[in-house]
Amino acid sequence: MHNNLTAEIEARLPGPVTQLVRTVGRTAARHGFNSYLVGGIVRDILLNRPSADIDIMIDGDAIKLARAIADNAGARLFVHKAFGTARFDLEGYRIDLSTCRSESYDRPGALPRVKPGNICDDLLRRDFSINAMALCINPTDFGVLTDLYGGVADLEGRVIRVMHDRSFEDDATRIMRAVRYEQRLSFKLERRTARLLKLDIDMLDSISGDRLKHEVLLWLTEQRPGGIIRRAGKLGVLQKLHPSLQWNRQMQIAFRRAAKIPDGASANHIYFSLMAYQMGEGALYELLQRLNLLGSKYDLLSHQCLALKNRLPQLDRPLIKNSEIFSLVQDVEPPAVQVNWLYPNPLAVRRSLRLYLRKLMHIKTSVTGNDLVQWGLKQGPGVGMVLNKLLAARLDGEVKTRAEEEKLARRLAAI
Ligand code: CTP
Repeated sequence: MHNNLTAEIEARLPGPVTQLVRTVGRTAARHGFNSYLVGGIVRDILLNRPSADIDIMIDGDAIKLARAIADNAGARLFVHKAFGTARFDLEGYRIDLSTCRSESYDRPGALPRVKPGNICDDLLRRDFSINAMALCINPTDFGVLTDLYGGVADLEGRVIRVMHDRSFEDDATRIMRAVRYEQRLSFKLERRTARLLKLDIDMLDSISGDRLKHEVLLWLTEQRPGGIIRRAGKLGVLQKLHPSLQWNRQMQIAFRRAAKIPDGASANHIYFSLMAYQMGEGALYELLQRLNLLGSKYDLLSHQCLALKNRLPQLDRPLIKNSEIFSLVQDVEPPAVQVNWLYPNPLAVRRSLRLYLRKLMHIKTSVTGNDLVQWGLKQGPGVGMVLNKLLAARLDGEVKTRAEEEKLARRLAAI
C-alpha cells in the first residue's frame, strides 16, 4: 500500500464533504495546528467501505477552529461546549471536530480522565489497532497515513487487536464493540485479544445500563445481528447481559429466517425480541432493567411476544377457523406476530401466524358502525358486538359481499 491516500479519500467522500475536510485542514494549518481524519473513517477508507461519520482530531482548540470556518463551510455547525467538540452536518455526513487528548482511567468502567494531547496520545487511547490510524488533512501532508500501531497490517490480516492489555479493563464496552467489528467485517479476534476478552468479561458488570443498552442496540442495527449474537453467546458475553440468555438452535433458526425479511422500521425491536424470546417473564424483566429499557418499545414488544407465545398452544390445530386465529392474535402488534412466526413453532401455528400477517389482519367489514346506527341500531356496546360478528363472518368466508354483510347485520341486530 502506498502512503498517500488522497485519491482514496476523494473516491470515498462526496465532493462537498472533501471540500469541507480540506477547508478544515487549511484553517488548522493557518492556526498552527495539525488536523487528521481518525478512527472509523480511516479504517473504512482503507477497506473501501461506506462510513457516514467522519471524526477529525485537531491538536489545538477544535471549537475555535470550527467557528473560524463556519461561515464558509456551507454546512450547519453544532457546538457541544461541555464535550469540547463541534459538528458539521453535510450531505448526510456528520463531521465531528475534537481536540486530541490523552486519557487515563481512575477505575475500571469509569469514564476516562481526559487531558489535551497530540495525535500519538490520541491514537493510543483507542480501542483497536484498526481504529487507531490517522490521515493528515493539513495541505502540506494531505492524505498521509499515520499508522503507529499496526492498523494496516491488522486490516490485511483481518484481525481485531486491542492496543494494550488493559483495554477491556479500561472500558468493557470494547468487549461488545470487538464482537460487533469482528462480525461486521468478517474478521477474527486476534489470539491475545480473545484471551483478554475472556479474562476481562466480568468487567461488563461495571458498565452502566445506558452504556450497555447503547452497545446492544448498535449490535441490532448491524447488517447481521444474528452473527453478532451467536458470537457473543459463544464468548459468554450474552450471559453477562443476563445469565439465562444463550444462543441455541432455535435462536439460530429464527435469526436465519429474519435475515430474509426486508428491514423495516421495527427491525431493531424485532431482533431484540428474537434475542429475548426464550426468556421467562422474570428473566425478561431483569434483562430490560439491566439495559434500562423498562417502559420502552423494546419492553412493550417483547412482552407482547411473550403474551402471544403463551397462547400458541391454542393455535396448534389444523382446522382452526380464521376468526379464532384473529381473536387470539389481534391484540398484539404485527412485529410480535412476526417474532412468533420466525421461531420454530409447530407447523399449524406458523401457518396460522403467517395467514394472519398476510391476510387476516387486513380484512375489514364493509358495513360500519355508522351504517348500523343509520339503519336503526341504538348506539352503544351492541354496535361493537354486531361488528365483531360481521368481521368473524367475513374472516370465515360466510359473507363475501356488502349485500350479504348487510343482510347478516340486519338479522343480527334485528333491524
Ligand atoms: N473508540 C474507542 N473506544 C470506545 C469507543 C470509541 O477507542 N469505547 C474510538 C475508536 O477509535 C473509534 C472512534 O472512537 O473508531 C469513534 O467511535 P465510534 O463512532 O463508536 O466508532 P467508529 O469506528 O466510527 O465505528 P462505526 O463504524 O461503528 O460507527
